[in-house]
Amino acid sequence: MSSSYSSANIGGLLNKLLLLGVWLWSCRAASSTVVKSGDISKVEDAQNFHMYYGQTFKVIKNAIDGRSYLLIQNNSRMASRTKYCTSRIKSFVIPLSNYSVDTDLFPAHFTSQSDQPQSCNFANFVPFSEETPLQRAEWIKFLGVFANAESRANQVYGAVSGENVDNSINKMTYNISNPDDGDQLHAILCTVDVVIDGTYTSEPENYTQSTFLQNINVDDNSSFAFLTNQSLWRFDKRVQNSILDWFDGAVSQPQLVLADLIEAIFPTGNYTTTYFRNIAKGEDVVNIGADMCNRNSSIALDPTILPCQ
Ligand SMILES: *[C@@H]1O[C@H](CO)[C@@H](O)[C@H](O)[C@H]1NC(C)=O
Ligand SMILES: *[C@@H]1O[C@H](CO)[C@@H](O)[C@H](O)[C@H]1NC(C)=O
Ligand SMILES: *[C@@H]1O[C@H](CO)[C@@H](O)[C@H](O)[C@H]1NC(C)=O
Ligand SMILES: *[C@@H]1O[C@H](CO)[C@@H](O)[C@H](O)[C@H]1NC(C)=O
Ligand SMILES: *[C@@H]1O[C@H](CO)[C@@H](O)[C@H](O)[C@H]1NC(C)=O
Ligand SMILES: *[C@@H]1O[C@H](CO)[C@@H](O)[C@H](O)[C@H]1NC(C)=O
Ligand SMILES: *[C@@H]1O[C@H](CO)[C@@H](O)[C@H](O)[C@H]1NC(C)=O
Ligand SMILES: *[C@@H]1O[C@H](CO)[C@@H](O)[C@H](O)[C@H]1NC(C)=O
Repeated sequence: MSSSYSSANIGGLLNKLLLLGVWLWSCRAASSTVVKSGDISKVEDAQNFHMYYGQTFKVIKNAIDGRSYLLIQNNSRMASRTKYCTSRIKSFVIPLSNYSVDTDLFPAHFTSQSDQPQSCNFANFVPFSEETPLQRAEWIKFLGVFANAESRANQVYGAVSGENVDNSINKMTYNISNPDDGDQLHAILCTVDVVIDGTYTSEPENYTQSTFLQNINVDDNSSFAFLTNQSLWRFDKRVQNSILDWFDGAVSQPQLVLADLIEAIFPTGNYTTTYFRNIAKGEDVVNIGADMCNRNSSIALDPTILPCQ
């Protein structure tokens, strides 16, 4: 899931200001029909989208690519009069009757491939631009806004966030081909009890502890507590044809990611992790398939709420 983003140039900025002018005018023209927008969502944790509410419309803006989506309530006059489809702003009439994350035959198509050419029904949905699981999960509000389903989105986000999700887990990246990075990585590895290895591989099922040791150029494993204590984790436990559910299921269920992290860091030995596997204990990937799905896929997923330990 790689994306490239271009920054706004002066031409783009002028274009945006011009559009803004036209759009304010349209809003005024429509403001005689006052339409209740329903509940609103507020972005609390996510960094990369913003929302604004008007009487008959909403604007949602992707901070990362600067694109804005003007969402016009279907029962306002603006709905039939206003249509934008430029690289900076697109309009959608809401609530969407129909939407999709995997085809382009619908009024709206949510995609994370923001660097591909896009038709007018495409909206960039990029939870993976966020740093933490909680911020990624908040993108459910981005979807909720298109469906006038803010209260449902708020409820789901409230359930997965609560007191439970800790935002303090940070990640560092080392480039092992660079000798300074390599030394620094080895030094850090000597000091830690638990390692989560996020190294990319096209074959997760073949990635074992020895792959890791080769990757970091280590022959003498004796000085690493995380190895003697068998705590070396990867987030590729659930895979389908080598594609990780980490980029899909784990986005919407950060509370399960947190539960996995807690088990990795404070092991009870009595909890089966969902997304993380411990390769120091030789744990394998789990190949997931449609036959393992025990719910009706036409019905929205309810978050799995774990009991407090
Ligand atoms: C607007 O959408 C709502 C909900 O889908 C629908 O019930 C209503 O008929 C629509 N109104 C118009 C004017 O399209
Ligand atoms: C949703 O879109 C699909 C494909 O265009 C169509 O077959 C279906 O009837 C639509 N459903 C609704 C409720 O509009
Ligand atoms: C890693 O470092 C090597 C050598 O300095 C460099 O050629 C390579 O582009 C770097 N890779 C990344 C992903 O930064
Ligand atoms: C990876 O594992 C599969 C079977 O699990 C095997 O067929 C394949 O050859 C392995 N690939 C490598 C590079 O070892
Ligand atoms: C270290 O490597 C040796 C040889 O590969 C292996 O026998 C031993 O089990 C390893 N120790 C740990 C703690 O992984
Ligand atoms: C190994 O893990 C146990 C239990 O988590 C912990 O008490 C112990 O200090 C760890 N030992 C080392 C060498 O990290
Ligand atoms: C393990 O988990 C089960 C179910 O959550 C619980 O009933 C049991 O007491 C736990 N056992 C230990 C040793 O913590
Ligand atoms: C799945 O849910 C849809 C929508 O509620 C319903 O029409 C369909 O009959 C359900 N399918 C099964 C197998 O329960």
